[in-house]
Amino acid sequence: MLRRLYHDQPATFAFTDANLAWAKAQMKKFPEGRQASAIIPILWRAQEQEGWLTRPAIEYVAQMLDMAYIRALEVASFYFMFQLQPVGSVAHIQVCGTLSCMICGAEDLIGVCKDKIAPKAHSLSADGKFSWEEVECLGSCANAPMAQIGKDYYEDLTAERLGEIIDELAAGRVPTPGPQNGRFAAEPKGGLTSLKEFTTGKAQHNASVQAAVDIGDTVKRIDGTEVPLLTPWIKDAKKPKPPAASKARKDPKPSADAPADASGVTKQEAQAASKGRPVSKSNPEPAGTEEKAVEKKPRAKRAPKKPKE
Ligand code: FES
Repeated sequence: MLRRLYHDQPATFAFTDANLAWAKAQMKKFPEGRQASAIIPILWRAQEQEGWLTRPAIEYVAQMLDMAYIRALEVASFYFMFQLQPVGSVAHIQVCGTLSCMICGAEDLIGVCKDKIAPKAHSLSADGKFSWEEVECLGSCANAPMAQIGKDYYEDLTAERLGEIIDELAAGRVPTPGPQNGRFAAEPKGGLTSLKEFTTGKAQHNASVQAAVDIGDTVKRIDGTEVPLLTPWIKDAKKPKPPAASKARKDPKPSADAPADASGVTKQEAQAASKGRPVSKSNPEPAGTEEKAVEKKPRAKRAPKKPKE
């Protein structure tokens, strides 16, 4: 799929102070001269700030990382998680259209998006609140069909339920993510058939749904403001841990006159206990004893050949 920059771009981009501090901290994760390695998290942060990845944002990040613009554009246009056109202000709905979901009704979900949002993928709804696209497998095939909204998965969907979710989001409510048919996770619809003893005391929702419910605002998980921007590695870098008291190593040191053999194993590493073979039916003696058990028979001498007449 050809991914181009959107035709209508804003004039400028700048990180907020908090995002700039976080982005600079990301750069410190990498050795001097290798700051370009931080491009994906920083582009992602730019997208979360703006909702989509604008050309000024890509150029801004490239400048920050001392990269050619084209290198940053290559990354942004390669990964589908980067949205190169405006997305809905409330939600961008990513419907999985791969095998399991397609078999289980993804086309019906796409039909709902076409009806309720826009006839074409990557187009905004009339009120600008929603957009949608079809994506490849999101790894939730046992809960097909499903869609991702922000950071949350809505699974075991029906066309009717997806329509309700879009209506709830439009009304400013927060639909609960996860399986939409009463399942806890990906167990059989009729209930557990094994490991039943582990069901007591479990939370109401599975871990990822519980995290979303605890945050309390699923829509916040779309714009990335649901968690504080922490940079614990900066603090750690200032206070390196003192090295543990060194103990004399007991294992043998490599010596100059004992090179690795043809198999790459040095003599120190390959200390064979015996020359024994593994025990088997044909060799019932434990390894290391067969040399004692097998007695060498003297070779029988052949009779001299008769000369041909
Ligand atoms: S096929 Fe849809 S999540 Fe895998």
